[in-house]
Amino acid sequence: MEKNNYHITKPIDLRDFKLVIGRCQREENRKKTSEQILRKRIHYFIMEETETTHRALRILELYSGIGGMHVAAKETGLPFEIVGSYEINTTALDVYRHNFPQTPKAYNIMGLTLEQLTAFAPDIIMMSPPCQPFTRQGLKRDVADARTSSLLHLLGLLEEVHNPPSKILLENVVGFEKSLARERLLEMLSKRNYTWQEFLLSPTQFGIPNSRLRYYLLAKLQPASFCFTVSNELKEAVPFCLCAVNSSLTSCNCSKTRLNSLYNMLYKYHSSKNVATLETGDLYSDFPLPLSSYLNNDTNYEQLLLKDKILDKYCMILDIVDRNFTRCCCFTKGYGHYVEGTGSVIRQDMNVDISSVYNKVNNLPVGDPKRLDLLKKLKLRYFTPDEIAKLMCFPSWFTLPQSLTVRQKYRVLGNSINILVVTSLLLILCEE
Ligand SMILES: C[S@@+](CC[C@H](N)C(=O)[O-])C[C@H]1O[C@@H](n2cnc3c(N)ncnc32)[C@H](O)[C@@H]1O
Repeated sequence: MEKNNYHITKPIDLRDFKLVIGRCQREENRKKTSEQILRKRIHYFIMEETETTHRALRILELYSGIGGMHVAAKETGLPFEIVGSYEINTTALDVYRHNFPQTPKAYNIMGLTLEQLTAFAPDIIMMSPPCQPFTRQGLKRDVADARTSSLLHLLGLLEEVHNPPSKILLENVVGFEKSLARERLLEMLSKRNYTWQEFLLSPTQFGIPNSRLRYYLLAKLQPASFCFTVSNELKEAVPFCLCAVNSSLTSCNCSKTRLNSLYNMLYKYHSSKNVATLETGDLYSDFPLPLSSYLNNDTNYEQLLLKDKILDKYCMILDIVDRNFTRCCCFTKGYGHYVEGTGSVIRQDMNVDISSVYNKVNNLPVGDPKRLDLLKKLKLRYFTPDEIAKLMCFPSWFTLPQSLTVRQKYRVLGNSINILVVTSLLLILCEE
């Protein structure tokens, strides 16, 4: 079982406790029960209650990549155990093992059998199936793409297994909501009597200065229900208060319910980053943290500077930000290798007027050495993998092995998830 510093504990119901004491006392009067027996009975009562209320959640982590779901589970503070974790990519496996050497690992989900799934007896399945079959670059081949086979195989198992998980959390790219794979998923959920809610969420809604709009699905096996009203529509926000309020401010400026576990987790995250943005009573999304909160000051940026060829050819399509910006684009696995739509770059030299540079560059042809000289003044650099990991809300204890190349680090991070968003959703899913 994972050891957490801050378990969420449900207090033992005092009425039950009083009942046991009352019963024991009556018995004691009648049968002269010894104090030792009385103590034992109370001890067993407490043990039993603790076991049922604090039993570690059994999580089966599929398509585990570098372990983003595992990290999110840890960040909830809930007691849990990863009973199995499946991943085929060796680089991602290296990162996973580097951070979680103890977790049992398996490889291809295609090899998962009904007997194994039964034996795992997961309370929760957490998964981010491959997203390429649902993206434009991946040709949107959906269920016809071989990379969807393992998801279809899993859905087949979930239709059959006699002990289906009581909860499911799935993450994917925008586009999944229109796919046949999603239809197959909903068919299984409906057959097995789940209730579910779909979301499109980005970390920016949680006050993180990084866009990563993603599809999420939360499902619960009935008769269990969600702590909010579910709808057939995709929700584009979580149905709870996401306001920055500390204990001295009792109210906020939204009308949404406060979910304590979520509220505490977000407050803890934001107060560790920048107290100034807190205690406004307004939404975290209205006060995104500046990128400076995520950048390394001691970065040797010379080796991260964009190459001349890239600057000259692609300067018009770069998304350029600086340390005072409160946003940057989604980092994908092609970052540092491809330019278009793979993530922002940073202007390291803020003393140079970017508008005047671009006004002049606009009037010079590609290949003109003067154009390159002007662009070079901006000192445009890539974000480091560490900075990207921070923007994706990976905690500082999570590290990438030094043996990986920078390109490998970009690839595995680009495939991963935003930890704060998934932690929030897991807390919502686990709320009774
Ligand atoms: C979107 S990524 C998951 C990222 C993960 N949540 C993380 O935090 O890194 C999908 C992962 O599924 C893995 N994968 C694809 N097909 C698989 C299969 N049949 N069995 C196990 N893993 C698979 C890929 O190697 C990839 O790492």
